[in-house]
Amino acid sequence: MKKECKIAVLAGDGIGKEIMEAAIEVLKAISQKYGINFQFQEALIGGSAIDETGDPLPEETLKIAKESDAVLLGAVGGEKWDNLPTDKRPEKGLLRIRKELDLFANLRPGKAYTPLLDASPLKENLIKGVDLLVIRELTGGIYFGEPRGIEERNGEKVGYNTMIYYEHEIERIARLAFEVARGRRKKLTSVDKANVLEVSAVWREVVNKVHADYQDVELEHMYIDNCAMQLVRRPRDFDVIVTGNLFGDILSDEAGALTGSLGMLPSASIGERYALYEPVHGSAPDIAGQGIANPIAMILSAAMMLDLTCKLPEAARDIENAIDKVLEEGYRTGDIWSPGTKKVNTKEMTEKIIEHIL
Ligand code: IPM
Ligand code: MG
Repeated sequence: MKKECKIAVLAGDGIGKEIMEAAIEVLKAISQKYGINFQFQEALIGGSAIDETGDPLPEETLKIAKESDAVLLGAVGGEKWDNLPTDKRPEKGLLRIRKELDLFANLRPGKAYTPLLDASPLKENLIKGVDLLVIRELTGGIYFGEPRGIEERNGEKVGYNTMIYYEHEIERIARLAFEVARGRRKKLTSVDKANVLEVSAVWREVVNKVHADYQDVELEHMYIDNCAMQLVRRPRDFDVIVTGNLFGDILSDEAGALTGSLGMLPSASIGERYALYEPVHGSAPDIAGQGIANPIAMILSAAMMLDLTCKLPEAARDIENAIDKVLEEGYRTGDIWSPGTKKVNTKEMTEKIIEHIL
């Protein structure tokens, strides 16, 4: 366990602020219980950073992030900034911080909580027991590939992007995925579109090469379209999924929806030096400022931070167990509410979780 953890707090926009407050309250409880000292340093990102500084990722924020042990991030974006060009939007702040901190691996667990089975769009017998992890490459692929742009050709407008992966980028994400799979059920599904794309042919070749060092892990390759289908047909068969940036973006939302609500899904973005923890969901402008957002994804992201950065796995398990109990007791925020359960707001949900931690 670390005695001290320096945390950059980037609440961002919309419900980001509300759920961040919730996560900080939970971390204060953890600090009280385990004697670990958290130093929180707030900084701007996304739309609120644009409003104050004109830049979705101000230098000051990047500096604070680089001086911290971990970054906790809420969410970015909102209607107000929707009409800005892509490279000036709040989302650009998020993409840039991932790139600047070289956070090449994004871990997005999707787990079916027994008390929430009825919140899933799938039949209970399909979703029960699902426990999978999407590992998404986060700093390469079509999100960052050059050339990219919008221009005029032959008198009409064209938009284009480049899906590109270097061997070393594939190798490091594949290695990490095999390592993680080794600590779980030892099954890795690598997702690509190798029947069409050259970039996928290289992806597949490199993943196979890395597999030689991990013969105890079962490896299967799957095309993205097939994987999207198999995820709704037989989600329980998946353990770890590794894939590129764009496919991972899509599959992690799908995996999230399967388990009931995006409001439940945390994520960790890690690189050699830095780590950033954020919920998979966005800033939910439709409910922002009402104090009703589900704080669980953010709180679980803080738990991933305790586990991976602060080296305090007991505290992470405490939080996970507390959330299990609160759900078993029937407390639900609006996004996961169903008749017969008790509707609570962000603050009440957070208090219930803390009660089970202390
Ligand atoms: C995510 C989001 C982001 C992404 C957006 C907000 C840029 O969808 O974290 O999955 O596409 O990576
Ligand atoms: Mg996404």
